[in-house]
Amino acid sequence: MLAAQQRQDPNQLSILIEKNLEIPTIPVVAQRAIKEMANPDVNVSHLTRILAEDQGLTARVLKVANSPLYAQAREVKNLQQAAMIVGLNTLRGIVVSVANRMIYKRFGKVEHAMWEHSVAVAVAAHAIAVKKKLPHRDESFVAGLMHDVGKVVMNNGARDAFAQSVQLAAEEGLTSIEAEHQVFGFSHVDVGGLLLERWALSPRLGQAVFLHHDLELVSTVAEGNEDLVYATNLADKIAHTLQIGTLVPPKDEPEPIDLAEEESASYFDLDTTAMADLVVQVKELYEAQHQAMV
Ligand SMILES: [Fe+2]
Ligand SMILES: [Fe+2]
Repeated sequence: MLAAQQRQDPNQLSILIEKNLEIPTIPVVAQRAIKEMANPDVNVSHLTRILAEDQGLTARVLKVANSPLYAQAREVKNLQQAAMIVGLNTLRGIVVSVANRMIYKRFGKVEHAMWEHSVAVAVAAHAIAVKKKLPHRDESFVAGLMHDVGKVVMNNGARDAFAQSVQLAAEEGLTSIEAEHQVFGFSHVDVGGLLLERWALSPRLGQAVFLHHDLELVSTVAEGNEDLVYATNLADKIAHTLQIGTLVPPKDEPEPIDLAEEESASYFDLDTTAMADLVVQVKELYEAQHQAMV
């Protein structure tokens, strides 16, 4: 996988991906709102007027703003309150999360499983960020939620080929990356990385999505951005351990693995007990949060 990633010229890879798949654009209202929030002199009334142009987006943003993970003492009833009560950083994360949910072309069994997995990884990445007092909690949630967005795009545009790659991975014991390379010639991290670039989200988020299976390349990211890559990698492993949103259940009961032996767990200095506590905590958070995210 690593060799394949290093070998392929990024431009050639983008051409190959776009020949086969349509990279969805970010909903235009979300894009304008994110741009407005990046403005240091952001005008909250202007921002809420932009968001209010898309009623579907607004309804979802308010639902997420009132979900257990973000809920404050008082209910958020409108966008103005959302900006004031949860704050602009969190609101930006919520808008991106909602935009990400809107790219699903259909929402059947496979898509539901993919979404559940994403939400589990998002709450796990957020929990790691809280536990380790990392500076980018909202971004951790978004990184978790979007880490496998490439799979959504592959499934949107090439459903049979994507199903074939999932089956191939299960039957041959391959990683999803290996199986996707065999079927598509590229993998979900290539597609996800391209989508994040097109959506002009932060390079830190793009790196976390692109490298979540590839810690060997973490030394290539800018200083200070490593945390998000490791948090996304570890969160993914926690969600797999909990078997939330598994696309094809393994034939045999998987061997219990000690997550503390993962490189990303050592990076955060999390031992066996700390990891076991985190897994329990993530399960509870997921149960509380997932309904609000659909
Ligand atoms: Fe992945
Ligand atoms: Fe994943």
